[in-house]
Amino acid sequence: MHIHKYERFWIYLSFVVIAFFIASVVYGFVALDLKVVGDNETVDPQNLQDTPFNKPGVRRVENPDPAKYEVYVEALQFAFVPGTSTPITVPANTPITFHVTSADVLHGFEVVGTNLNTMAIPGQVATFTTVFPEPTTYGIVCNEYCGPAHHVMEGKLTVVPKSEFNENYLVQ
Ligand code: CUA
Repeated sequence: MHIHKYERFWIYLSFVVIAFFIASVVYGFVALDLKVVGDNETVDPQNLQDTPFNKPGVRRVENPDPAKYEVYVEALQFAFVPGTSTPITVPANTPITFHVTSADVLHGFEVVGTNLNTMAIPGQVATFTTVFPEPTTYGIVCNEYCGPAHHVMEGKLTVVPKSEFNENYLVQ
């Protein structure tokens, strides 16, 4: 069968484009270590009181020295708990692991001005670890449309110097 050379060119080019897309997905997962929400943890969004989300907030991880902290954040219409009525307060230069879920509908959890950005999906727990290098305050916004007050769903994340961080910032 004869294939015109331009026809052949476009056939080859389409394979190159497909290979490029596959390579870019593989690159994202392998080299950039991107994760899919809910890969590891799931929860029953109707029964968050039976999960660590029953007391959302900042906790010290039991053993490691130097200290590490984890933060459980519940997103709901139209607030982050904690985050909205009280800021999430964490120490600088310390590994912080966030666990984010939703109690109702799909929300977003974006720490403005950083690359921390995840969906908060009912039933699934988004987990990521980061270190904030400097004491500062960040805004948190919901970036998934979640209802009539979506545009006012926001919060604050305060990073304090390690030396100023104390028990009062932990959930009891
Ligand atoms: Cu929550 Cu938009």
